Amino acid sequence: MAPKTDKVTVPAIRARKQGGPKIAMITCYDATMARLLDEGGADVLLVGDSMGMVVQGLPTTLPVTVDEICYHGRAVARATERAQIVSDMPFMSFQVSSEKALENAGRLLKEGGFEAVKLEGGESVAETIHRIASAGIPVVGHVGLTPQSVHAMGGFRVQGKSEDAAVRVLADAKAVEQAGAYCIVLEGLPADLGRRITESIDIPTIGIGAGPHCDGQVLVCYDFLGMYRNLKPKFVKRYAELGDAIVDATSRYVAEVQSGAFPDAAHSFGMARPHTEGEPTGDKARVTHPPAGYGPADDEKA
Ligand code: KIV
Repeated sequence: MAPKTDKVTVPAIRARKQGGPKIAMITCYDATMARLLDEGGADVLLVGDSMGMVVQGLPTTLPVTVDEICYHGRAVARATERAQIVSDMPFMSFQVSSEKALENAGRLLKEGGFEAVKLEGGESVAETIHRIASAGIPVVGHVGLTPQSVHAMGGFRVQGKSEDAAVRVLADAKAVEQAGAYCIVLEGLPADLGRRITESIDIPTIGIGAGPHCDGQVLVCYDFLGMYRNLKPKFVKRYAELGDAIVDATSRYVAEVQSGAFPDAAHSFGMARPHTEGEPTGDKARVTHPPAGYGPADDEKA
């Protein structure tokens, strides 16, 4: 099938550095959410290894595997028409060697349906970024707070707060650009450093907790929708309180199941009965993706 004309491409993302609206990236891990975020106009859907924390309930992103990212990538790719789909390269999928990194990046495109990969690190991974990008695989960089280095950083801490540290993060961002990345995530940095980096490099910066001056922003979907309620970092703005809505809907459902109010006649099927002329045909199961054997009965099909 030919790509849609407004499909978000790598050149289109790069061009946003020169003008146009800022880039809106959101993490996404499944088809239902992908369909909604795509319809809402997200430019980039990132299957982040944050999945380890918000989907798998782990304390860090470290255990996430390439196979798991591919599985979720396929689900997101099936439901996405416009947004670009980017994969995180999980911990130890790119650190061992450039060869191994290229092999894994290739798997993410071939098996996960991704259009680009993102990997954490600056100068130390520049050669690897170059290797992957030279093979025609678009690369997103990620510097500053890099969650895969959580133990080395002593926790999820804002980076680049002193001038020395800021200079190192800036050097990392430049190395990532030089190596051939087409955009870069800046995570957990003072807003002034976010601005300094954004003004110093020619590829778009996408911030998360890096202030308002970046060329785009990224948030974890469960965070901006108010569903991940264990933690509310300062940089997260909630655009909905779906966590509250889900808890409320669940308690109403539980109460109606317990009282017998659900299901009522409107949500129940009737027996087949002889058809009278002019009468609409029987009960239709109102399911959009009917599981086998659960759709309209054979004698109810048109
Ligand atoms: O894993 C992730 O979701 C990320 C974003 C928060 C940038 O890396």
